[in-house]
Amino acid sequence: MGPSGSGKSTFAMVFARRCADRGERAAVFLFDEARETMLARMRGIGMGIDAHVEAERVEVTQVDPAQLSPGEFLHRVQAAVDEKKCRVVIIDSVNGLLQSMPNESFLLLQLHDMLMYLGQQGVLTVLVSTEHGILGRRVAGSMDVSYLADTVILARYFEARGAVRKALSVMKKRTGGHEKTIREYDITSSGVGIGEPLVEFQGVLTGVPAYTGEKRGAGGA
Ligand SMILES: Nc1ncnc2c1ncn2[C@@H]1O[C@H](COP(=O)(O)OP(=O)(O)OP(=O)(O)O)[C@@H](O)[C@H]1O
Ligand SMILES: [Mg+2]
Repeated sequence: MGPSGSGKSTFAMVFARRCADRGERAAVFLFDEARETMLARMRGIGMGIDAHVEAERVEVTQVDPAQLSPGEFLHRVQAAVDEKKCRVVIIDSVNGLLQSMPNESFLLLQLHDMLMYLGQQGVLTVLVSTEHGILGRRVAGSMDVSYLADTVILARYFEARGAVRKALSVMKKRTGGHEKTIREYDITSSGVGIGEPLVEFQGVLTGVPAYTGEKRGAGGA
């Protein structure tokens, strides 16, 4: 989960690409953006999946919520796993999926059942969740599905040294311990890079970190 533009779709698609690289199948359901936008972005970061799409190792479905009922959507996910043996399912985003529902609480129950089923089948399900605004602060009345997830990775923007930068951290992992550091990451034309833990800043997740490391040179931090 993370704010708009932070790189959630890119991260999710890296899981699909790696799955296909192993020769396994992935199913991607796009609610928010056009299929071509996603394919072009993956090409742009040197992780193009066109050949995998061609070979049907990655199946991309662009969902128009006005056209597809939630029941049909759940049926398609099940078919991707049962019939096509997909090992990774990406839902981008869960906000888009919830918007397609007249009754949100009913969908949450169905989503819960679907995730349990996929988990039992050994399928990795990646749910992309967009937070409101650029700072990613939750607003009253918005849906939180993080309680359904076994693992939550949180992305944040932060401002430091005159630039807007991005950081991620693992907030939760149901099956065991996890790294608790906050690391900077960047999406460039050569892929997704994750840096060293940000130990010299405090308050990164708030978006306004303070530099607590040693001052370097005349200009300090
Ligand atoms: N070829 C590229 N070179 C450098 N940066 C790129 C490239 N392609 C994408 N990016 C970066 O990735 C960001 C978009 O990532 P992505 O679409 O995965 O974000 P998102 O969190 O899914 O956004 P949204 O909430 O709008 O769906 C861009 O804002 C840009 O900073
Ligand atoms: Mg996205």
